[in-house]
Amino acid sequence: MSQKAIIFDLDGVIVDTAKFHFLAWKKLANDLGFDFTKEQNEELKGVSRVDSLKKILNWGNKELSEEEFNRQMQLKNENYLSYVNEMDKGEVLPGVQKVLDYLEENNIPYALGSASKNARHILEKIDLKDGFSAIVDGTDVSKAKPDPEVFLIAAEKLNVAPQKCIVFEDSVAGVQAANKGEMTSIGIGEEKTLHEADYIFNDFTEISIEFLKNLLQK
Ligand code: BG6
Ligand code: MG
Repeated sequence: MSQKAIIFDLDGVIVDTAKFHFLAWKKLANDLGFDFTKEQNEELKGVSRVDSLKKILNWGNKELSEEEFNRQMQLKNENYLSYVNEMDKGEVLPGVQKVLDYLEENNIPYALGSASKNARHILEKIDLKDGFSAIVDGTDVSKAKPDPEVFLIAAEKLNVAPQKCIVFEDSVAGVQAANKGEMTSIGIGEEKTLHEADYIFNDFTEISIEFLKNLLQK
C-alpha cells in the first residue's frame, strides 16, 4: 500500500468547540446590539478570527475603529477561552478515539490542519497533542481556508503527497480547501451543508474501520 495520511480539522471535528465559538460570537454581536442566525454561523466555521469578526460586523451593519475591532476580537477570545479552559479528555467527540487508535495501530501518520490560533492549547486540554505527527494551525498560515495552504503545509510536514491525504472537515470552507488541495475530503456534518465533500458522515460514530481501511488502501 502506498503511504496515505490523514489530516484532521479540530473545531467541530475532534471536539465540539464550534458551539463555544458560536456562543462567544453571539455574545459579541448581542453586546453590539444585533444578532445573527444559525445559518449565518455556518459561514463562520473554518474562518479565521479576524475574518469572522469582519463578516459579523457586516451582518450587523456595524463599523468599528481599528482599536475597537482589536478589543472586540480579544474580548471574544477571552470569552471563548473561558469555555475551552473547562475542557478535558471527555470532550473528544464520540468515535474519534476509535479512528485515532486504528491509525496508530497501523502506523498511519496523521496531522492537524486548523484555522485556530488556540489549537495547540486545546489539544493539550484534551490530551491528544502527542499523537499528531504534525500540527499546523492559525499561527502557521498566511491564507485562510478555503485556501488549501493549511492542508498543503500539513502534507509537506507529513512528507506525503497532497493527493494521498484524506481530510476530515466540518466546515464548507475547509471542504473547499481540501478539494482545492486535491485531497480526499470527508465532511463531518449535514449533507445539505457539506455536499461538496467526497464523503459525508453525520459524525465519527458512523465511520467504520472497514470504510477507513478501504479508503487507505485505494
Ligand atoms: C476554526 C473555527 O477552526 O478556527 C472558527 O471553525 C474560528 O470558528 C477559527 O474562528 C479561528 O479560531 P481561533 O481559536 O483562533 O479564534
Ligand atoms: Mg472546523
